[in-house]
Amino acid sequence: MSPAQKLEISCDDPEQKTTPGNLTPNETEILETVADAWNNIIRDVSGARTDSNIPANSDDKCGNFADDYVNIKTMLQTSSDGGGAENGDSEEVPNSGNGGGGKASSVLKPSPSVGMSLENLMEVPIGSSGKNGGSENGSATSMMDEAWEQLSRSYVYFKGQRVGTLAAIDTGGEALNYNQVFVRDFVPCGLACLMKTDADVDIVKNFLLKTLHLQGWEKRIDNFTLGEGVMPASFKVIQDPSRQKEVLQADFGGTAIGRVAPVDSGFWWIILLRSYTKCTHDYSLSELPQVQRGMKLILNLCLSDGFDTFPTLLCADGCSMIDRRMPEHDGKELIERIDKRITALSYHIQNYYWLDFTQLNNIYRYKTEEYSHTAVNKFNVIPESIPDWVFEFMPLRGGYFIGNVSPARMDFRWFLVGNCIAILSCLATPSQATAVMDLIEERWTDLIGEMPLKIAYPALEGHEWRSVTGCDPKNTRWSYHNGGSWPVLLWLLTAASIKTGRPQIAKRAIELVEQRLAKDGWPEYYDGITGRYIGKQARKYQTWSVTGYLVAKLMIENPSNLLIISLEEDKKIAKPKLTRSASWTF
Ligand code: GLC
Repeated sequence: MSPAQKLEISCDDPEQKTTPGNLTPNETEILETVADAWNNIIRDVSGARTDSNIPANSDDKCGNFADDYVNIKTMLQTSSDGGGAENGDSEEVPNSGNGGGGKASSVLKPSPSVGMSLENLMEVPIGSSGKNGGSENGSATSMMDEAWEQLSRSYVYFKGQRVGTLAAIDTGGEALNYNQVFVRDFVPCGLACLMKTDADVDIVKNFLLKTLHLQGWEKRIDNFTLGEGVMPASFKVIQDPSRQKEVLQADFGGTAIGRVAPVDSGFWWIILLRSYTKCTHDYSLSELPQVQRGMKLILNLCLSDGFDTFPTLLCADGCSMIDRRMPEHDGKELIERIDKRITALSYHIQNYYWLDFTQLNNIYRYKTEEYSHTAVNKFNVIPESIPDWVFEFMPLRGGYFIGNVSPARMDFRWFLVGNCIAILSCLATPSQATAVMDLIEERWTDLIGEMPLKIAYPALEGHEWRSVTGCDPKNTRWSYHNGGSWPVLLWLLTAASIKTGRPQIAKRAIELVEQRLAKDGWPEYYDGITGRYIGKQARKYQTWSVTGYLVAKLMIENPSNLLIISLEEDKKIAKPKLTRSASWTF
C-alpha cells in the first residue's frame, strides 16, 4: 500500500512525525485556552484578586499569562463469544454460548491538584504529570498511589504480554462479565498509561493489536452475520485444556446481558489509536496494513446507509478523528463521505439537539401540524409533551444537547457523555461548549451532586420507568444507567472543563471524589438523587472508576495532556449558521 493511500491519524503535520516542530494553529488555540484556564485556577486558589501578582481585572487575565503560555508552548515543541465468534485461528476459541443535597461549597477550596507551582507543571512534557500524577498533598498522593496500584492489579496477560485490564476486581460479588477486558472500559486505562510519567505505551499498543485481531473474526449471532468492522464489546483470556494453551474468547454482544451490540467499541478503538499516535509520535502502528484495514472497516460501518438515521447510532463522531485529507482511492472516497456526514451531523446536533432557555421558550410556543419547507416546528413536537421538570431545570444561563430527537418526540434528558464528547470533538460550537459548562455550574446539585457524576438527568420513574426500562430492577430511579452517578465520567468532565477554560469545575468535582472514592473501594457507580449511596449492585474496585480519577488528575495537573484526547476543529467544515440565539448570557 503506498503512503498516498493511507488513512492518517490526525495528530500533527507529517513533517512533525519525527521532529515535532511548531504547534498547529488549533493546538495553539487550545493552549491559549489552557493558559487562560490556569490563570483562573491560580486566581481562585490564591484567593485572588487582591494578589498583586494576579491581575484584578478579569479582562486582564491574559496579561501576565504570556510567560506561562510560552512555557507550555516551548514544552510541547520540544517534546514532542458466544456471539458465535468463531475463527480458525488456533489462538482463539468460540465462546461457548450462542451466538445531597449538593453540599458542594460554592466557594472553591484550594485544591491539592493545583498545589504545585505552575512553572513546574508546565515544564513537564506531554504525557507526564510529576510523580505519576501525584500531588504534594499527602492524601491525594496516597490516593494516586493506590490508584496506580489498583490499575496494575487489573492487568490481563496473554502469552506473557499485557493486553488489557479487567473491568473489575471485586472478590465480593458474582463476576458475571466483569472479569473481561471491555473495549470501552480500557480507554481511560489506556489514557492513564499514556499520560503518566514514562508513558507506558506497550499495553496500549498490544490492546489495539489484539482487539484488531478479534475484529477480523467472523462474527455470527444467532443466524446473523455482523458487519466486518464490528469490534468486540469485550474479551477474555482462557486456558484451553485440550490444547494446553491460552486462547482469547471475544464477545460481540452475543453473550452480553441484554445482548447489547457494541456500537461504540469501534469508535473508542479509533480514538485510542489516535491518542497513542498523538502521545508517542509512533506512526508506524497506524500505518500497518492491518490497522489501515481495521480503520476502513470501522468507517465503512458507520458511514453505511442507515447509520445516520438510526437514533442510537447518531453519534458517529468517530469520523472526526480523521481530520486531515486522505488523498486517494478508497481513502479519498471515505474522506468525502466523512466530510458530508460531519457537515450534516454538525448541523443536526447544533440545531435540533440544542436546548437553552430561548429555545425551550420557542418550543413551548410551537405551532403544530405545519407542512412544507417553511415549517418552524420541523419534527412536529407537541408543546404539551415537554415534561414539567425541564421548565424548572433550565437556567437562564446555560444550555445542553438533549438525549434524542425523533418525530413528535424529544428526549429532553441530559446525558453527560454526549455533551462532553460533543465538546471534545468540536461538534459543539464554542458558545455551546461554554453554555454546557455554565449549565453544569448552574445545576451543580442535580448534575454533580455529592459523588460525581450523574450519567443522565433526571431519572425515569413510575410509568415511564416501567415502559422505557421494562421494569428493570437494576435501573430503578437514580440508580445505574437511570440517573446513577459514575465516577469514571470524571475524566470526560475534566477534559471538557479544561478545553473550555473552566478547570475550576473539574477541580471541584475532583475534590468531592477524593473525599470518598478510595474509602468506598472504588465502586462502579453511586445511587440516589445526589449520588450519596454506593450503588445497589455496583462492583467494587471497578477499574475504570480508578482510571477515570487518574486521567482527571493527570490532566488537571498537566493540562497539555488534554491534547492526547481532545480533537481539533476541522476548519474545512462549513459551519452551519445557527438560526437560534445562543444561550442567554449576562
Ligand atoms: C456495565 C456498563 C458498561 C461497562 C460494563 C463493564 O455493563 O454499563 O458500560 O462497559 O459494565 O464495566
